[in-house]
Amino acid sequence: MTARATPSTNPVVISPERAADAPVVEGLIDRAFGPGRYAKAAERLREGRRPLLTLSFVAWRGGEAVGCVRLWSVRIGKTGALLLGPIAVESAWRRGGLGADLVRRAVSEAAAMGAELILLVGDQPFFGPLGFSAAQAAKVRMPGPVDQRRVMARALVPGAADDLDGLVTAAA
Ligand SMILES: CC(C)(COP(=O)(O)OP(=O)(O)OC[C@H]1O[C@@H](n2cnc3c(N)ncnc32)[C@H](O)[C@@H]1OP(=O)(O)O)[C@@H](O)C(=O)NCCC(=O)NCCS
Repeated sequence: MTARATPSTNPVVISPERAADAPVVEGLIDRAFGPGRYAKAAERLREGRRPLLTLSFVAWRGGEAVGCVRLWSVRIGKTGALLLGPIAVESAWRRGGLGADLVRRAVSEAAAMGAELILLVGDQPFFGPLGFSAAQAAKVRMPGPVDQRRVMARALVPGAADDLDGLVTAAA
């Protein structure tokens, strides 16, 4: 577990998501994205499925979930990959490093489990410094309309993001 101590408050502890956390995590994501969350191309890869709980994380402050990140199993053409998202931090807790901590935790655990590549659709100013690149995902096609500059990949092993090409589909 990762603990972030903050002045005059409980520390924030990041733990793997449990099945029972789904309602609070869903609430957090709804507050962060609003109904537009379901219109996203990435949602086509998530609807009707469950995230990989061992690679999805919740940031807790006492009994309150203040941040979350989920990962999903996908394929890019025939290549296995992980899709990162949604990531959300409660508004009162933003710009304190928690979002970046959640991404770093998910990346390190995915690498430790032998995953080779993480794909996402997100903001370059947030994900670029965390090692994600749109250039490497230029030929990756999402199953719906998307600004291609927001499709980004990060290799977890050398060369895993070279020659990425193909449609992203949900994987078992
Ligand atoms: C995006 C989000 C998860 C970031 O969480 P956070 O805890 O505020 O992020 P951090 O404090 O770890 O920010 C890390 C860095 O990214 C920057 N950053 C954070 N959000 C950013 C944004 N939306 N645009 C540009 N830069 C951003 C921070 O300033 C910080 O930079 P620094 O290290 O130079 O100070 C949070 O703003 C959120 O939940 N937003 C609503 C949901 C959403 O849009 N999620 C998907 C985003 S692609």
